[in-house]
Amino acid sequence: MKQVTIQNKTFGLFISAQEIDESIKVIADRINKRFQDSHPIFISVLNGAFMFTSDLLKKVDIPCELSFVKLASYEGTTSSGAVKELVGLKEDITNRHVIILEDIVDTGLTISAVIAQLKTKNPATITIATLLLKPDCLKEKIHIDHIAFSIPDKFVVGYGLDLDGYGRNLSDIYQLI
Ligand code: IMP
Ligand code: MG
Repeated sequence: MKQVTIQNKTFGLFISAQEIDESIKVIADRINKRFQDSHPIFISVLNGAFMFTSDLLKKVDIPCELSFVKLASYEGTTSSGAVKELVGLKEDITNRHVIILEDIVDTGLTISAVIAQLKTKNPATITIATLLLKPDCLKEKIHIDHIAFSIPDKFVVGYGLDLDGYGRNLSDIYQLI
């Protein structure tokens, strides 16, 4: 099996670039049909979703906009600890159809924070598309509209996903072995 070593950890090939491409095509086709006349705005969550976003958007053939956001961690003043603030959104999304693009939903805390902060800006609808979902790890009940792959609870890298910043450039997805 094809293997890579990242930060002294060994990963085996898990999802090939071709499988990723096929799954993204299915999601793009659904989005093209559903949002044909509604000029959606894609909101991609950096850094992890950059490759997914690029490949998906190349297959989207309807009028649309694209914006990138980041979740900035800082220590909150409350005892609850770290607070994550959504930064980078310049567009007015009031009454817009928003499609969030994520690399992976694990516990679901990150995507929940993104949804909560976007909802305060009164979009018409929020749709979620994630490349990967670890269903066994979900701590929150979240409706995810488009999932390219549901995967077991094992750490993965590649295709935008990293281990300590490394591995994002790989065109396939690898699983820790
Ligand atoms: P959450 O637990 O759903 O909030 O996931 C938060 C973030 O953890 C994701 O956006 C990823 O950046 C990271 N993450 C979770 N699982 C993995 C993994 O298997 N590989 C790489 N990053 C991961
Ligand atoms: Mg992410």
